[in-house]
Amino acid sequence: MSEIAQRELLVSLGASLFARGFSVGSAGNISVKVADGYLMTPTNSSLGRLEAAQISKLDRNFQHVAGDKPSKEVFMHRAFYDARPEAGAVVHLHSSAATAVGCLPDVDPENPIPPLTPYFVMRVGRRMPVVPYYRPGDPAMGPAIQQAAMTARAVLLANHGPVVSGATLLDAVYAAEELEEAAKLFLMLRGAAPRLLTPAQVEDLLGTFG
Ligand code: 13P
Repeated sequence: MSEIAQRELLVSLGASLFARGFSVGSAGNISVKVADGYLMTPTNSSLGRLEAAQISKLDRNFQHVAGDKPSKEVFMHRAFYDARPEAGAVVHLHSSAATAVGCLPDVDPENPIPPLTPYFVMRVGRRMPVVPYYRPGDPAMGPAIQQAAMTARAVLLANHGPVVSGATLLDAVYAAEELEEAAKLFLMLRGAAPRLLTPAQVEDLLGTFG
């Protein structure tokens, strides 16, 4: 896909996420790999009102080369690209259900949301660990995220929100949406004893859909 097409897709997906309440105010940021570097949402921008020409452009070393000043979370996105060579896009949201799960002290930090539904497993994967709290924009978060992303397509930042990678921008956005829905189900079912997908069912999904 051309860079112009990626810019337009970023604008339309950002608007769609914002319109459906996955992001409010200027929360969240999105990046996508292009031929000679990365496109990234500008800092303090609303995902609902991005402009294709203003989107930040970074070179392959994540240096700002054009457009508005990039998100202060550049290192968060970089951690995913460094850990996961197949990643073509990264989406960070403060979507409320996933963020709520990241505020619960009594969940399994290795994998707080169990395999409740097939699409969560297919889009987000086998597990999604929690990364301890860091102040937004704190570069110290980078190594912690990179370490967690070595074995997971998505991580949940404690008391902050999810960070999700995908092979394409559309894949990463779909995974972020599935993660939010799975978090809602998890919260609805707290205190119940839901039937989970079995390990064999999880492996069957990953073997069939990747
Ligand atoms: P930016 O506006 O710098 O992208 O930060 C928003 C955010 O979501 C911080 O985590």
